[in-house]
Order: sequence, then structure tokens, then C-alpha cells
Amino acid sequence: MVSREIKTILFDAYGTLFDISSIDAALEERYGELAREAALLWRRKQLEYTWLRSLMGRYVDFYDLTADALAYTLEACGLESSPADRKALMQEYYRLRAFPEVQAALRRMKGKFHLAILSNANPSLLEHAVTFNGLDELLSDFISADELHLYKPAPAVYRLPEKKLGLAPWNLLFVSSNTWDVAGAAACGLQVAWAKRTPAIPEKLGIRPDTIVKDLLELADMLGC
Ligand code: 2OP
Repeated sequence: MVSREIKTILFDAYGTLFDISSIDAALEERYGELAREAALLWRRKQLEYTWLRSLMGRYVDFYDLTADALAYTLEACGLESSPADRKALMQEYYRLRAFPEVQAALRRMKGKFHLAILSNANPSLLEHAVTFNGLDELLSDFISADELHLYKPAPAVYRLPEKKLGLAPWNLLFVSSNTWDVAGAAACGLQVAWAKRTPAIPEKLGIRPDTIVKDLLELADMLGC
């Protein structure tokens, strides 16, 4: 159960607010049958590079890192691509669609809580996706790992909202669909809701979310919004 002391709800971006599979059509158009494999490897590589670059102390921002993960993926899948092809695919990141219930759910929560994003993405990527989906008036802050040149699940990133908003960890509810992100935030003492949008199972890291919901409307119900 989450406590009654929540003041701010922090949302992860990719997989939680924004649906990365919005890019699948553009991949399919170019790469046909291999698109699915490429989409999965691209996302996996992207995450791997956030973790590797944080550990190695060699930061590049999330846009560039995602472009590197794309170049790796296409080469690994034996798919030819020019810089212009890769740039066109990267542009899709600026117009990822929000999951269908996001706007209505945020509208309900907005009356009761301060709403913000806590993401690995650099601010420009976040701003574009938020504006593209008409969520500007619902989300008050974009807190980005870019400020620290480190990526989640580095504890410093989950502690950033406490510092920026002047709140205690128990005043913050972090919402993510990503199991590694759920574990990372819970390990830092934030209250955590796992938006279980897929049949994923919890990580075996000895850390559990405070609550599990199927989507953000169920979260709004649970919070009495
Ligand atoms: C985020 O938005 C990568 O989904 C992750 O921080």
C-alpha cells in the first residue's frame, strides 16, 4: 500500500507514459520481417548503454546513446542503413504516442497531486513527446538524469526530485512499467507503483513495489482521484 503522504507523482517516460512500439511501423516499413527483432534489440541495447556508460563514467545524452544503440542494432541484424535512415528513425522518438489512458488519468490525478516526469531522457526529447501528446498542462516538471550525467538506476537520479522539489522520499510516488526502474526507485526509499502493462515478472533483486496497477487509470482509482 502507498502512504497518504504523497504530494508529487513522478512518472517514468518510456514504456510508462509513452509507447515505444509507436516506432514499430517505421521499422517495418524499412525492414519488414526483421523489424520486430530490431525493435527488441534496439530497446535492450539502449538500456545496456545507459548502464554501461554510467558505470564507465562516459556520459553521452539519451538521444545520442539511443542513436548509437540503433546503429549497433541495424549492423547486428545485418540491415543496411545510411545516416539519413537512422536520423529518420530517431525522429520517431520526438513523436512517440502516449498510451491511450494517459491523458485522462493524468487529468484526474492533476487535481490532487503535483505531477512530474523523472526520466533518463534529455529535456528536449521529453518536451517534444509531451507537447506532441498535448500533456504540457498536466505535467509540471521534467526532471532529467541529464542534469547529473548519470542514468537510472543510479541512486543519485532517484534522489534528484527530493532535492529539486524539497520533499521527503515518502512524499514521492514513482510510477514505472520498467521492472529494473521499479527496483531502483524502491531501493532509494521512494514509494513505487509498478504500472504492469506487460506480462513481465518482478526482478529478483529483493525489492518490491508498494503497489501494482495495470495502467494509470487504475492508479488514479487507487489514489481516490
Ligand atoms: C526513462 O524514461 C528509459 O524508460 C526510461 O527513463
